Amino acid sequence: MALTITTQSGDMLAASADALILPIYAGEGVGALDGAERFNGQLAPVLESSGFTGKAGQVVAVPTFGKLTARTLVLAGLGARDGDDPNLHGESLRKAYGGAVKRARDEGARTVAAMLPDGADAEAISAAVEGLTLALYRFARYKSASNGEPAKEVGAVELWSSGAVAEDAVAHGQAIAEGVALARDLVNTISNDKTPPQIAEWAQRVARESGLPCEVLDERALESGGYNSILAVGKGSASPPRLIEMVYEPRSGGATKTIALVGKTITFDSGGLDLKTQDGMYAMKTDMGGGAAVLGAMRAIALVKPNVRVIGILTAAENMPSGTAMRPSDVVTALNGKTFEIGNTDAEGRMVLADAVTHAARAGADEIIDLATLTGAKMVALGSVAVAVMGNDEGLISRFLMAAGNAGERVWQLPMWEEYREQLKSDIADLKSTGGRGGGAITAGMFIGEFVEGKPWIHLDIAGSAATDRDSAYTPKGATGVMVRSLVRYVEEAGANT
Ligand code: BES
Ligand code: MN
Ligand code: ZN
Repeated sequence: MALTITTQSGDMLAASADALILPIYAGEGVGALDGAERFNGQLAPVLESSGFTGKAGQVVAVPTFGKLTARTLVLAGLGARDGDDPNLHGESLRKAYGGAVKRARDEGARTVAAMLPDGADAEAISAAVEGLTLALYRFARYKSASNGEPAKEVGAVELWSSGAVAEDAVAHGQAIAEGVALARDLVNTISNDKTPPQIAEWAQRVARESGLPCEVLDERALESGGYNSILAVGKGSASPPRLIEMVYEPRSGGATKTIALVGKTITFDSGGLDLKTQDGMYAMKTDMGGGAAVLGAMRAIALVKPNVRVIGILTAAENMPSGTAMRPSDVVTALNGKTFEIGNTDAEGRMVLADAVTHAARAGADEIIDLATLTGAKMVALGSVAVAVMGNDEGLISRFLMAAGNAGERVWQLPMWEEYREQLKSDIADLKSTGGRGGGAITAGMFIGEFVEGKPWIHLDIAGSAATDRDSAYTPKGATGVMVRSLVRYVEEAGANT
């Protein structure tokens, strides 16, 4: 199942893998491959008729008819040399290698040799490895063997380069891909198998494997600690809430900064007494995409070992209607002492995050990044293509935007101007949890900001981005693992700058 990646240097064309992947820049042709020694001019008409020019994303598979040891040659278009989207680094490589390895798999290849573009640096190698690995991701937990996917599976990839391949760049790409795959697994798992206590056990297992200390606050600890906002959300469910916290400490011990990553982990969002519709509820096992990204990022961070301290927090609860459920119009006193009126029980994400960001601030975070599948309003504003970012610190926002672009993920800023605060006023409490229809993604974020104890903070609304209903180059249908790459990249860049 697991994909093995090894490295080789020299002439890939002699490799004995089932399929070869050859990257081609736009308009540069296949060079000596179609010369007298190899295909002898027979490749050109095949490429011509398939329309292959090396455009980004183009993939064509050609049978080798014994001209190479490999049965299949897969050409992958990289687009123009230096034509990478400056706002989306490495993306043409992720797409090209992801698309190509899937084509090799479809052609029945079990082993693949893939040539790296000449001059590929560590970032390019990492991106290619991410693309290869993420494209082959599958979630088969609930498929019985007889009823499963066809047995087509790539088990091994040899990465070829004319010179030596930087092993640590390969390992970096694999660490990122492992974190993303973990996040995808968590989101794809059904809610009946990931209740808050089960999420806590899962997180503890990952922490143990990663060598990270992990602490879990159960419902009794949450009660004695005053985490009333998390508890209110969990009240309607038979599965009690959990606050899960793990810490990565850099080896050198000289880290000057602590970053907290805080993920909304609603294991199922029925809406509570303000029940969702059938259509609105179906996808709500994915409402823990924020927490999944945090756990996936912590896994990768433990492997890539950046020079900064990181606290990972998952705030897990299930939002259900019942005789013990929270009510719209109830008033809650949050961990930091602020009171708020529940405007709508379906606005539960901001409630679990309110206490969790206060917890992060008190745990010594210098910066707080929260992530949440928070609002339908974000989906109206940006769709599922981009993640929304907002916060109280423009420097942190711009550093995060830069890191996300370097990691190849789309993030766009929404304003958090003071004028919006008006919408969070309540007649009977300090705040109201909902801010009305206009600017719903902004007021939701602003509500969370009331609980960060003045710390530099950003909020990422990933609603609609944590899962997708169609396959793309390196992201199969289902959970995406969105923001794992950006979080890890942000932490790596923060570590490099301390
Ligand atoms: N989990 C939802 C938001 C969501 C919707 C995520 C669709 C992914 C896809 C969230 O808890 C929610 O229900 N938000 C409400 C808030 C409203 C009641 C103020 C919304 O956006 O409708
Ligand atoms: Mn909700
Ligand atoms: Zn929700």
